[in-house]
Amino acid sequence: MFELPTQLSNQINLYEQQSVLRYWHELNESQRQGLAKQLQNIDFEFISSLWSKFSQSTKNQTDFSNIAPPSSIRLSDQTISSYDDAYATGEQLLKDGRVGAIIVAGGQGSRLGFNHPKGLYPIGPLSGRTLFQFITDKLASLERKYATQIPLFVMTSPAVHEETILFFQKHEFFGRQNRIKFFCQPTMPALDAETGKLLLQAKDQIFVSPNGHGGMLEAMQDAEILDLCATQGIDTLFYGQIDNPLSPTCSPALLGYHAINQSQITLQTIAKQSAFDKTGNIVSLNGQTQIIEYSEIPIETAEQKDDNGNLRLWAANIAVHLFQTTFLQQIIQSNQELPYHIAHKRVPCLGEDGHLLNPTEPNAIKLERFIFDLLPIAENILTVEALREDVFAPVKNAPTEDFSTPATSRRSICNLHRRWLREVGCQVAEGIQVEIHPDYAVDLPQLKQRDDVPQQIEQNTYLLTPSFQSLSNPKN
Ligand code: UTP
Repeated sequence: MFELPTQLSNQINLYEQQSVLRYWHELNESQRQGLAKQLQNIDFEFISSLWSKFSQSTKNQTDFSNIAPPSSIRLSDQTISSYDDAYATGEQLLKDGRVGAIIVAGGQGSRLGFNHPKGLYPIGPLSGRTLFQFITDKLASLERKYATQIPLFVMTSPAVHEETILFFQKHEFFGRQNRIKFFCQPTMPALDAETGKLLLQAKDQIFVSPNGHGGMLEAMQDAEILDLCATQGIDTLFYGQIDNPLSPTCSPALLGYHAINQSQITLQTIAKQSAFDKTGNIVSLNGQTQIIEYSEIPIETAEQKDDNGNLRLWAANIAVHLFQTTFLQQIIQSNQELPYHIAHKRVPCLGEDGHLLNPTEPNAIKLERFIFDLLPIAENILTVEALREDVFAPVKNAPTEDFSTPATSRRSICNLHRRWLREVGCQVAEGIQVEIHPDYAVDLPQLKQRDDVPQQIEQNTYLLTPSFQSLSNPKN
């Protein structure tokens, strides 16, 4: 029978993780080999140092006395001429083929409760297009509009990789076989929140989960994404998350502001609706732009008002960024690593008696890297405000919740498209749904250029061009 290599078993003993072997004697040859392989991939020393750090740290002692709003191009600063300049500059970047898009889609989407990768969720209010298609359709439309190519890099994780690829294969990669690349992020084991021990999800399986969206850097390095960008002349990467169908993917204006300011990282931001918004706050702390979770800022600080009576810390993070590829290359080459954070989560795991427990309260800590920890490393950061209703319709929670659900997201999509149509003079009846495929109009400026927009819409209407009709109804 297969036995553990001595070196591995010494490591397990040294870091007191023997409990992962408690069913070893029940395992067959291949189960033993599988578990040993998993254990071999674990950096016990690193895990132990993270556990020591988090279990000993006391409550956050951050000094917020020197907190301020980030320096930002606010909506009120975006005069028609500065916006037009930015838009034209961004268009040129797209025409010159200097832009690629990264979508992080490695999360497990546990809050949504959808038993597939989140990108497969059908979100189009009338079309039923999936979250992935909201990205690929938008990119295809921009490519067509600017006679260009925009490579798409999709980050997956072991939990969702295979199903994601199968989905794209089934849909012939939505026509982008030569300019789509999937890259898979690493995992980290979860730890028992009381003891720091590894958890078993089966007698021969350690519980692991994707290591956060900040795992993107190491995953990009492994997949040589930046080398690929360099050979293709791409110097700007749009970064977005899979769960926001209104994400301003490769928006010309955002690209333009980024290029004009030669910024290393640009963040699209929106104004918070209240001091208690459950979004990260983009702030300047001791002169450094960073994102601080809503739960970490003291209420009295979050509630501060400016001279006009508006929230002083107004900027919410919607996880839409642009990165200069040279900046990312610099970070990777200098071997700088993003820190790990902990999240208390419910993790199903084997109890002492070998049965699977489904805890109702958080029982474990998950270890995750956050992409926005790049901010303190960058020297030149820009934030650009956009209207919430133009760029943000997150799908986070199960339909039974009351915010960031599929229903709130669909409503936001319809509201935006209704507003565009009204702005070009179309009378849209109240209470009906409208959806615009990006090939019909990717944004309001493009809708304004069309001469075939209906003058009146009185029933649910999905506007799309004939060339996209074949792709409009996913079979899932
Ligand atoms: P969330 O933080 O909302 O996590 O991810 P999630 O996994 O989608 O959902 P919950 O928390 O389990 O309900 C924000 C974005 O970051 C990606 C997700 O796919 C989503 O696009 N992400 C998150 C990764 O790519 N990898 C991760 O390890 C975590």
